[in-house]
Amino acid sequence: MDGNGKLTLQKLASLDWGKLAAGTFDYNVRSHFQTLPPKVLQVITNYRCNSRCAMCNIWQLPHKHELSVTEFRALMDPDPIFDGVEQLTVAGGESSLRTDLAELVTYFVERMPKLWAISTVTNGFLPKRILEQTEAVLKIIAPRGIKLSMSVSLDGIGTMHDRVRGIPGGFDKTVETLTGLQELQQRYDFWLGTGYVVMHENLRHALEFRAWAQKRGLNVGFQLVGFHESYLSNLDRQNDVDFRPEDRDELIGLMTRLASERAWRNLSAFYWSDMVRMYRDGAPRSTPCPFTLEGLALDVYGDVFYCLSTPRIGNFLEEKRSVGEIYYDPKNLRYRSEEMRKRICPGCNSACGTEIALKKDVKQYVKFMLTGDTR
Ligand SMILES: C[S@@+](CC[C@H](N)C(=O)[O-])C[C@H]1O[C@@H](n2cnc3c(N)ncnc32)[C@H](O)[C@@H]1O
Ligand code: SF4
Ligand code: SF4
Repeated sequence: MDGNGKLTLQKLASLDWGKLAAGTFDYNVRSHFQTLPPKVLQVITNYRCNSRCAMCNIWQLPHKHELSVTEFRALMDPDPIFDGVEQLTVAGGESSLRTDLAELVTYFVERMPKLWAISTVTNGFLPKRILEQTEAVLKIIAPRGIKLSMSVSLDGIGTMHDRVRGIPGGFDKTVETLTGLQELQQRYDFWLGTGYVVMHENLRHALEFRAWAQKRGLNVGFQLVGFHESYLSNLDRQNDVDFRPEDRDELIGLMTRLASERAWRNLSAFYWSDMVRMYRDGAPRSTPCPFTLEGLALDVYGDVFYCLSTPRIGNFLEEKRSVGEIYYDPKNLRYRSEEMRKRICPGCNSACGTEIALKKDVKQYVKFMLTGDTR
């Protein structure tokens, strides 16, 4: 058997078949009869940021009081909605700017008994602090068997990254963080990769960047630039950073190339194949997404969302209602099944969580692998 064959078998053996079967049942049967409780949670731990990105306005948002660990505890302890969370994203802003980040993660881990995966994304501008925080988190989660996935944002090599992020010298700092994290990987088992937002400015450099990263043993996750009123608050940036008519061939070419890398262990090929249909043919998205069925997001100002690409569905501080009450509110559930799934999702290019959903929506994935068709 060749190396790839062995790798695939190892991967298959390492899959948790119980979780997979439960997920498949949830997506294909249970969801038709009842509202699924959230298993995928994103917590926006702050909206502060030490970057000045061209494609995201979070760094310009006014600051308000951020929930402390004690306030998170008061909110989450009595609310059963958090009991079934399995996958948590610790998000920002730049979450490394929270000096109590490790303490906060410790609390989340205590509060969510079914948690088995944590992911986080950082701009990597504060190497020392990020390395200390990551090691502290790994010390907490490793004995519990919880997996960490860490993505470090890089939107180009050298000055390209500095230009996109608006921080001279930012690239060097981020690379220093990545190098430190790779050293940390020699002592702890965690997944590390880079995230590249593809936009007009860096579209033509995407594959060159991937070669650079792969030479350093780093995975690259490409994300097409998106614009949202909530979360990134960047609708006003669209004219400057979005793709232009003259980018069309280059963009379709890149997506087609990524889609052609179809392999059982590369679930992202499904997403890219679907994005080709969306951008080239104007077809609606068919890539499944966990946030349509079992996702929840909340932020440090009290806002609650089914998904960060869509408007908030409530605020637990203003309404004095629990997150669970907001999640299960019939009016909100109606909004999710009517407005969100039917009007917003068909035009959404977010890759976030698609691998989670594809593993569970196994029928659609197997069909794609056999026929190349994502519909
Ligand atoms: C909002 S950031 C927060 C984490 C951290 N500050 C960072 O930049 O890595 C989360 C992810 O969104 C990506 N992102 C930023 N602006 C985006 C946009 N307009 N469209 C798609 N992704 C975007 C970032 O590159 C990052 O991977
Ligand atoms: S993408 Fe990340 S680093 Fe850039 S402004 Fe937004 S939150 Fe900050
Ligand atoms: S497809 Fe997009 S808009 Fe719809 S739930 Fe998923 S991330 Fe949100």
